[in-house]
Amino acid sequence: METVVSGARPTGRLHLGHLHGALKNWLRLQKDYRCFFFVADWHALTTDYSSPQGIQQSAREMVMDWLSVGLDPKQCVLFRQSSIKEHAELHLLLSMITPVPWLERNPTYKEQIRELVGRDLSTYGFLGYPVLQAADIIMYKARKVPVGVDQAPHVELTREIVRRFNQFYGPIFPEPEVLLTETQRFPGLDGRKMSKSYNNAVFLSDLPKEIEQKLGRMMTDPARVRRQDPGEPEKCPAFQLHKIYCTPQEIEEVSQGCRSAGIGCLDCKRVMIKHVVAEMEPFREKRAAYEKRPADVDDALAAGNRVAQEKAAETMGEVRSAVGL
Ligand code: TRP
Ligand code: SF4
Repeated sequence: METVVSGARPTGRLHLGHLHGALKNWLRLQKDYRCFFFVADWHALTTDYSSPQGIQQSAREMVMDWLSVGLDPKQCVLFRQSSIKEHAELHLLLSMITPVPWLERNPTYKEQIRELVGRDLSTYGFLGYPVLQAADIIMYKARKVPVGVDQAPHVELTREIVRRFNQFYGPIFPEPEVLLTETQRFPGLDGRKMSKSYNNAVFLSDLPKEIEQKLGRMMTDPARVRRQDPGEPEKCPAFQLHKIYCTPQEIEEVSQGCRSAGIGCLDCKRVMIKHVVAEMEPFREKRAAYEKRPADVDDALAAGNRVAQEKAAETMGEVRSAVGL
C-alpha cells in the first residue's frame, strides 16, 4: 500500500468547512492507503510562539473531531508531531542542504508575512516552516500528500529538497506528489468562506438546536427582502448548502419556490437543515462518547505515536548512515 501523509495545525473545534474540505478526503484515503495523519503542533509554534498556551487544548479538540467523524485509529496512524523528535532531527539535516533563497521565494511565506500583521514572523523557525513540513512528509516516505492548493508550493519544495538530498547522499526518499483536495469554497453563515476567525462557522460539535438556529440565520439572496419578493437561488449563500445536501428533486422544488416567491426562506432552509443535522448526528454520538472517556483520545494518539515513532526511527537509521553520522 502506498503511503499518504498529511498534517493540520491545531485549530481547535472543526467546522463544516473542514469536514467537506480535508476530512472527507482523509476518510476516503484511510481505506485505500497507509495513512499518517498528524497534529502539526510545532508548526503552530512558528506563528504562535509568543502565546503557545492554547495549542495543546486545540490539538485535543481537533483530534476528538477527527475521531468523531470516523478517522479510525485502526485504519490510519494518528499522531502528534512534537511526540516524534525525529521530525526535529530530520528538519535539522534538511536545513543543511536547503538554500535560503528557495524559502524566501515561497509564495505562502510572503503571503503570511503580509497577512499576519502585528506578529513578528522574521524568525528562523518561520522561514524554515516548509523544511519542517518536508521532514514530516518524507519521514514516512510518503508518495501522496493530500492538501489544499495553498499548500501545493510546500509539497513542490519538498520534492526539490528530496532531489537534492538524494543527489548528495543516495536514493533514500521518494518524491511525494500532491493530491489536491478539492477546495470548493464552503460558505459560512455570512456568505464569506467558513472560518472560525470570521465567526461564521457551524461546528461539528454544535448541538442540533444550534445548527438549526445558525443556519436559520444564514444569509440569503439579498434581493429577497420581503416574503413576496422573488429570489435567485444562485445569489443565495444558503442555497450553496442545498446543492451539497439536498436531493435533486428538493433542489428543483426550492429553486422554483424561490424564483416564484412561492416559498419563504425559512421553509426553504428547513429542507436543507434537516439533512445537515442528520449528517452530523452520528458524529455527535461518537463525540459524546469520547467526551465521557477522554482517555480514549489519549490512547488513540499514544497508539499512533508508537507506530509513527517506529517508522521514524527506521528512516533516521538510514538517513544517519547515508549522511555518514
Ligand atoms: N502546513 C500545513 C497546513 O498549514 C500543515 C502541515 C504540516 C502539513 N506538515 C505537513 C500538511 C505535512 C501536509 C504534510 O495546512
Ligand atoms: Fe435562498 Fe431559499 Fe431564500 Fe431563495 S428561498 S433566497 S434559495 S433561502
